[in-house]
Amino acid sequence: MWLSGALAKVGSSSSSCSSSMSMLLPSFLLIVHIYQVTATQAESLLPESIEASVVDLRDRGLKWLVTGRNSEFGWDLGDTPRVVLALSSSASQWPAQNDLEARLTVKQLELELLDKLLRHSVDPVTPARVSYFSLALNGACKDARNFYGHNLVASLEKHTADQDYPGYPEAFGFSLTALVSCLSGSHLHRRQVRHLIAIATDDEPVVDSIDTRSMAVMALECLRRKRHSETLVRHIGEALKKIARLQQPDGTFGNIHTTTVAVQAMALGSVVPGVEWNRTAAALALRTMQRPDGSFLDSVPATAEAVIAATTLLNGMGLLSLKRGRCSEGAESLKSTLSQPPLWTTYTVVQAQAPKSQLDTTTASSNNSPAPGALPQQSNSVVKLAGDTTMASVKYWIWIGPTPLTAQIYNISLSVPVNTTFFAVMRRAAELDPNFEFSSTVWPNGHYVHTISGHREQPIGYHYWLLYHLPTDPDPAAPPPTTFVAPAGVDKLLVQDRDVYLFWYKKL
Ligand SMILES: *[C@@H]1O[C@H](CO)[C@@H](O)[C@H](O)[C@H]1NC(C)=O
Ligand SMILES: *[C@@H]1O[C@H](CO)[C@@H](O)[C@H](O)[C@H]1NC(C)=O
Ligand SMILES: *[C@@H]1O[C@H](CO)[C@@H](O)[C@H](O)[C@H]1NC(C)=O
Repeated sequence: MWLSGALAKVGSSSSSCSSSMSMLLPSFLLIVHIYQVTATQAESLLPESIEASVVDLRDRGLKWLVTGRNSEFGWDLGDTPRVVLALSSSASQWPAQNDLEARLTVKQLELELLDKLLRHSVDPVTPARVSYFSLALNGACKDARNFYGHNLVASLEKHTADQDYPGYPEAFGFSLTALVSCLSGSHLHRRQVRHLIAIATDDEPVVDSIDTRSMAVMALECLRRKRHSETLVRHIGEALKKIARLQQPDGTFGNIHTTTVAVQAMALGSVVPGVEWNRTAAALALRTMQRPDGSFLDSVPATAEAVIAATTLLNGMGLLSLKRGRCSEGAESLKSTLSQPPLWTTYTVVQAQAPKSQLDTTTASSNNSPAPGALPQQSNSVVKLAGDTTMASVKYWIWIGPTPLTAQIYNISLSVPVNTTFFAVMRRAAELDPNFEFSSTVWPNGHYVHTISGHREQPIGYHYWLLYHLPTDPDPAAPPPTTFVAPAGVDKLLVQDRDVYLFWYKKL
């Protein structure tokens, strides 16, 4: 209810600009769609001039994201769901019925997910990945509870139900899953809510990180908006105060990633009394972090997060607008005109490079579009997720620079199923932290990683990325000898519990 009211408000004040949208316009014009009524929920919590600059930041971020789309209307490196989250939470009408490019992106999102589900026996889909896809499906007006017969939300819930919380290794994943459940209309058990509260408020959260605490706050805030619980308000306030204390004099909360996630949590909690933070300084800090081209770190995930942070500052909703069925409740303009070409048809035609103006609008039908006005059916088929198997705790380090004592160092601890490939670990790390972003080329014998954290190998200067498999954490004072160089490629290395890997950018 809290959501449909807000959507109705937004829908009515911005529907005029969407109806004039032609499917032939270049994609970046979709930015015209974006929230014209930014201050309705947030009651002008930002000074007017700052608000205008946050709007500008968000729009330029979105424009950069859309420019980086690949020829299949998705984003490389598994980033399609991230961008869909940014687009659908920031644009009041995304995907608009007559916005062809948006609809091709939705189709690509579905194809990428189907591909993962079909191959899940060789490369299990992780709960975090399924969570992002589920939210993106909500955003794309599709149903994560009946995705071609798979109930993704039930899969996630089954996965968390099987965990023993005190030893549950992934507080971030748990919180993200809880957010998906809440937005998808599930009831969270008391035990789960207690665990979320613990993650959000403990002085030593299970994973000591601002990101995890912020994600837990977002899930709790989703529950609070459904239930109006005073107890939740108190716990959220406590968590927000802890995050607020970490705001730096320059307005940031640490690096770009941490800042964008923290801002999302803080901006959602604006109704919680007694929480003081400097919203203006955070907005200005985001502004400083944006590159002239509109991106953040030249990275799709970082830019998508920053766009969502900006949106949350503006509307106090952010990811919380991505509720299941959001397109069939209170937002008539999203579902009314059903005369658009079915997606499968347009996909085929575009593949064949036909001019878009000649689209055949007569055949085929698109699966699982929700019936107007009603929540769609849900499916019983539960996908087996990676985490339903034995987990391994893996540490992954990056050293950038030939001299370890002065190198840039990043580390991340992940929990993945035993026997996951190291390549999958890298992808997971990249999902969670943009410092672990990487690019690779595919050779007959597997993936060859040439760029990590923005550093590309330079054969001319003999700078290469060398992978080590170590018995303990690497020590810059005693760098590992080449005997620890990993014996196989990233696709052949199957991780075991307590494995330590190091990717070192060094001169050979
Ligand atoms: C918030 O930050 C802005 C910009 O850095 C600064 O001008 C302002 O004084 C700060 N407000 C408070 C209450 O600290
Ligand atoms: C490992 O990463 C965490 C989180 O980013 C950081 O706080 C910690 O200092 C890092 N440890 C080392 C030894 O670099
Ligand atoms: C991991 O792979 C090894 C070798 O293929 C196999 O023996 C072992 O049972 C696997 N472990 C799990 C938990 O799947």
